[in-house]
Amino acid sequence: MQKKTYAGQPVITLNNGVDIPALGFGVWQMEDQQECENAVIKAIETGYRMIDTASIYQNETAVGNAVKNSGINREELFITSKLWVQDTSYEKAKGAFQRTVDRLQLDYLDMYLIHWPYADFTGAWRAMEELYQEGKIKAIGVCNFPEDKMEELKAAATILPVINQIELHPIFQQKELQRYNRENNIITQPWSPLETATPDCWRMPN
Ligand SMILES: NC(=O)c1ccc[n+]([C@@H]2O[C@H](COP(=O)([O-])OP(=O)(O)OC[C@H]3O[C@@H](n4cnc5c(N)ncnc54)[C@H](OP(=O)(O)O)[C@@H]3O)[C@@H](O)[C@H]2O)c1
Repeated sequence: MQKKTYAGQPVITLNNGVDIPALGFGVWQMEDQQECENAVIKAIETGYRMIDTASIYQNETAVGNAVKNSGINREELFITSKLWVQDTSYEKAKGAFQRTVDRLQLDYLDMYLIHWPYADFTGAWRAMEELYQEGKIKAIGVCNFPEDKMEELKAAATILPVINQIELHPIFQQKELQRYNRENNIITQPWSPLETATPDCWRMPN
């Protein structure tokens, strides 16, 4: 597999051999489409190469516009999106994926994640495995999966998730789950790594 450099940034190699930039730019809560497009273009200019969106963020079209207008080759970017709960089943996942790549104006996705371990996530995983085998997704993974849900997924899966994207920051470290991921060769990818600036969202250390 040809290695990518992602503008010389540090990369992390996933369990399927794909390299992912160590740092990414997330677009959760960017509801204003123009603001989102401008922010992603600025992030790419600044040097970010991984962009993290989700169908529920309702800004995939803006991210797609930014990718198209960034002046950077699509192959030099790593684009992640996520399958929302209402589409988490074998029957619905492929349609949801197609709508996501259509909005992003891409013909493949670098990473596709199950957003939450609800509904028929083993069925959705089977659909994602098929999309992966067809080359439409370079890496498949999950978000917010505790150990028991991960075990349930593993029992049904033929392909291991590459990533478990979880809430992780100094005051919520989820050390047991991090250890579980590490032992299973799954990268722990933090979301809200700076925590939220809203004090009433703070929680006690685990
Ligand atoms: N998979 C999931 O379930 C899930 C869930 C949440 C997030 N995510 C992903 O993770 C990404 C990052 O999460 P996040 O945005 O919550 O967390 P974050 O990057 O850790 O930012 C959290 C807080 O830091 C503040 N902040 C960020 N950059 C700052 C800066 N340069 N100067 C001052 N304050 C700054 C923000 O303040 P303000 O509030 O004032 O902006 C925000 O409250 C999301 O965009 C999304 O892509 C995934």
